[in-house]
Amino acid sequence: MTQDELKKAVGWAALEFVTPGTIVGVGTGSTASHFIDALGSIKDQIEGAVSSSEASTEKLKSLGIPVFDCNEVDSLDIYVDGADEINGNMQMIKGGGAALTREKIISAIAKKFICIVDSSKKVDVLGKFPLPVEVIPMARSYVARELVKLGGLPEYRLNVVTDNGNVILDVHNLAIIDPVELENKINRIAGVVTVGLFANRGADVVLMGTLDGVKTITQ
Ligand code: 5RP
Repeated sequence: MTQDELKKAVGWAALEFVTPGTIVGVGTGSTASHFIDALGSIKDQIEGAVSSSEASTEKLKSLGIPVFDCNEVDSLDIYVDGADEINGNMQMIKGGGAALTREKIISAIAKKFICIVDSSKKVDVLGKFPLPVEVIPMARSYVARELVKLGGLPEYRLNVVTDNGNVILDVHNLAIIDPVELENKINRIAGVVTVGLFANRGADVVLMGTLDGVKTITQ
């Protein structure tokens, strides 16, 4: 099986968590894109979706799935999204697709975060994947200097402006032993909009695509 086939398998497996008649939180990326395809197959059974990016919104609409403004929704049963890395405590690095801020907002609203990944995303220690940080443009250099003080090597993601009009710093060289502490520290830097560490609020369920099938992991 290819990596994309593993992503497809978990994208479709996530349908079992969708309750008919509800609004579904939808993530961003190639794995989430498979979930959107799956959602399209039951579009008449759901009320609609809240989307974490312009790209996902466009795809949802193209499949005829109504997309709600996040402000219209008090709570969501589930948020389904991929990850760039996930550890044994279901904490994640996200934001490879630059959608981390809206992803964090929707996951905060959702009762359950269903993380859909292929097994290559599983790590013992987070940080090999450069940690994305969304930053207000005028704070870019200041935030970069602060991230260096935390032991990271920030790299400005060229030619990328987020859906919120901000820039991304990808932080290399981190072995994230205490993800909650690092998430809190980076959140405290002025000019940081969002750090792509999902540690305070990790996943509740992980669907992992492996060569032996889709494994469901809960804590
Ligand atoms: C986007 C994300 C994605 O979930 C993450 O990058 C994984 O992407 P993919 O499913 O394409 O491997 O956080 O901001």
